[in-house]
Amino acid sequence: MSDDWSARQYLKFEDERTRPPRDLLARVPLQSARRVIDLGCGPGNSTELLLERYPQAQVIGLDSSPDMLRQARQRLPKCEFAQADLADWSPPERTDLLFANAVFQWVPDHPAVLRRLLAALPAGGVLAVQMPDNTQEPALALMSEVAASGPWAAQLALVAAARDDLPTPNAYYDLLKPICSQLDIWHTVYNHVMAGPDAIVEWFKGSGLRPFLSPLEDDTRRGFLAEYAARIARAYPPRNDGRVLLRFPRLFIVATR
Ligand SMILES: C[S@@+](CC[C@H](N)C(=O)[O-])C[C@H]1O[C@@H](n2cnc3c(N)ncnc32)[C@H](O)[C@@H]1O
Repeated sequence: MSDDWSARQYLKFEDERTRPPRDLLARVPLQSARRVIDLGCGPGNSTELLLERYPQAQVIGLDSSPDMLRQARQRLPKCEFAQADLADWSPPERTDLLFANAVFQWVPDHPAVLRRLLAALPAGGVLAVQMPDNTQEPALALMSEVAASGPWAAQLALVAAARDDLPTPNAYYDLLKPICSQLDIWHTVYNHVMAGPDAIVEWFKGSGLRPFLSPLEDDTRRGFLAEYAARIARAYPPRNDGRVLLRFPRLFIVATR
């Protein structure tokens, strides 16, 4: 497995994954926009929502992954896409909306980056962000647990330590409010209905498991996944109809400059 993101794996749960960006966009207080940029656009599912909402705007999708950008260009051939790393990217002038669904949890020291990007927007410009706030959920906690307890432990020690809890809403408020006219912060807890525990494993193969799986050889990766799947099955017992609920808390921030 390369370090690149796989668009195909990510889109296996497209309906569920596109609900948070819909909920985020519903709270963006802009009637119209000149330039809208989708940060970490992935395969273009969030970009498509932005094009529908702002048909007159120039909509640009940015991502660091060539595979994601390839898929996004295929899906939205008329839209502009570019490769960029958000850690050192800045918005061009006259950008009205920076939209970032499910990306900043991957960006080192993301609070500082959020503040820098917000500061670069013109008065009235909006930064809209959604991040999973699920590090305490079994699906995430079990990744680190499994990483620490098998023959892969030494190889994965740094990965297991890398994913921190998100800062609290209070911390984001204190950081961003001094440069905002309006700031809206909230959580939504989704309960996604999944076919069974293996579907939870498939879901995270497209996101949170990637850093754990990519350093491992095929055999070791299979061992890691088998152990993770066994623990997931215990942590997410079937409902009466055999399905399981994937509890998924997410943090939303809409900041207006
Ligand atoms: C979970 S996907 C989100 C895709 C889409 N925005 C959505 O709403 O479903 C996260 C995306 O962020 C991209 N990404 C991760 N780190 C990045 C960085 N530092 N700069 C730019 N993109 C990054 C990944 O390549 C991936 O496509």
